[in-house]
Amino acid sequence: MKILLIALLGLGIISQTLPETSLTNANVAAMPADTTKKDPETGLIVDENLYMVKAQCTNCHSTKLIIANRFTRDGWKQKIRWMQANHNLWELGDAEKPVLDYLEKNYSPTASVARRAPLKDIKWYKLDQN
Ligand code: HEC
Repeated sequence: MKILLIALLGLGIISQTLPETSLTNANVAAMPADTTKKDPETGLIVDENLYMVKAQCTNCHSTKLIIANRFTRDGWKQKIRWMQANHNLWELGDAEKPVLDYLEKNYSPTASVARRAPLKDIKWYKLDQN
């Protein structure tokens, strides 16, 4: 019984002395930096169709509702239909395609949240294998 108690105490001391902070720092360092450009006004990812989304999607609610969601192109289309049916969203007309292009590209389930910029000018070299 005494031995068990000592063992348990020992475990407690060991787990307390583990360098926890260095572990979490390593995890942070291993995460890719978020180099995606964000529009300072809305927080939305910058691309060529952003202006259309700003024109059509920022009048009624925060863009946080967009940023927090991931839908497929069809899913976004359904959301738009749902807002049109229930929340007085207007017909987007010609704007619908660029808006969906934008949402699919940047806020689909497969769009990476933290995507680093592609590497440029990589100089490959041969490893000497002796
Ligand atoms: C005419 C007003 C209006 C416009 C314009 C508008 N929405 Fe909405 N949207 C709403 C309302 C109202 C809600 C519900 C808000 C709530 O639940 O608090 C909503 C909710 C949402 C949600 C959350 C849906 C959910 O399942 O919770 C998303 C995502 C969204 N809108 C995206 C968009 C996008 C993308 C556009 C541009 C095409 C857009 N909205 C334009 C009125 C609008």
